[in-house]
Amino acid sequence: MTPDKFAAARNMEELYALLNEARMGPGWNKPEPSMYPTPKKSFVPAHWPYRIARAALDCAAKYVKTEFAERRNLIMNNPVPGNTYATAPTIVAAYQMIKGHETARSHRHTPNAMRFILDSKERAYTVVEGKLVPMEPGDVLLTPNWAWHGHDNKGPDCAYWIDFLDAPLTHLLGPMFFQQLQDKFVQESNEVAADSPFRFPYSVWGAKVRAQPESASGMREVTLGPPHLDTIRLKWRHFKPAATVNEARTTASRIYAVHEGAGTAVCDGQTIAWERGDVFVIPSWNDVQWSVGPESCLLQASDEILLEKLNWLHSGAPGSEMHDAEARFRARF
Ligand SMILES: [Fe+2]
Repeated sequence: MTPDKFAAARNMEELYALLNEARMGPGWNKPEPSMYPTPKKSFVPAHWPYRIARAALDCAAKYVKTEFAERRNLIMNNPVPGNTYATAPTIVAAYQMIKGHETARSHRHTPNAMRFILDSKERAYTVVEGKLVPMEPGDVLLTPNWAWHGHDNKGPDCAYWIDFLDAPLTHLLGPMFFQQLQDKFVQESNEVAADSPFRFPYSVWGAKVRAQPESASGMREVTLGPPHLDTIRLKWRHFKPAATVNEARTTASRIYAVHEGAGTAVCDGQTIAWERGDVFVIPSWNDVQWSVGPESCLLQASDEILLEKLNWLHSGAPGSEMHDAEARFRARF
């Protein structure tokens, strides 16, 4: 490629051919627009029932030993073409289990992680920075960027939970680092840290969400923390029995894990009938109609905190986003 080739181009087609050779694209003739008036829906609403995942985990437990697998987990990849990993654009969720008297290797990584406990009995722990953090049903445990963590089930019963990580964001931006413990399989410890700052016991947070003011439609929310993960905001959401809530779209993508109750979420033409232990994702820019049966409590993991930092979080009534963006710009510059 030399500059004189462009000088010699006789028409648009020859210009395009030369641009292609120079590995440049004509900005006036893109295959797809690079900007559009409102967000595109790149991910779809999707649902993973726990009764299926649990059967799959029990089957995997027969064939997959934790000695050979970094984690015995099931990744909930959003069913859009080309995606094999992410549940939402920046977050992946996975069901995981360990059997009784089993351990899972201690490691640390730059992706921020947290887990929500579904079923466990006594003496099932996540080992965080060398301390045994109890995993009781409904608990949320954080392992932020570079915290050592493994799993140690000192009891006889299987333990089941859901992991959430910002690994898709780490993949996009690049700063992935990962390290396994070298001298041992898992950090051994007898120090139980029930009051670890990395643990949000449901015995405390289930009461906290119920103590929040109830919306007119019968919903309560509380944000977990401090501490907070840098990239994933966690909220408990509580619905009174028979609540119906019409929730306006937001630029945040939200993954829900059901702690108790049952109901439906209608989103983008899909009806998701959820129950205890299920996971479902409401990707950004989708209205949701909630209809709840019995009293229900769901954990919400979202990228709200990330969008908020970037001034890209819009959670208002439809049509308010342009006004929001204008107001934010005028306030800052
Ligand atoms: Fe991990």
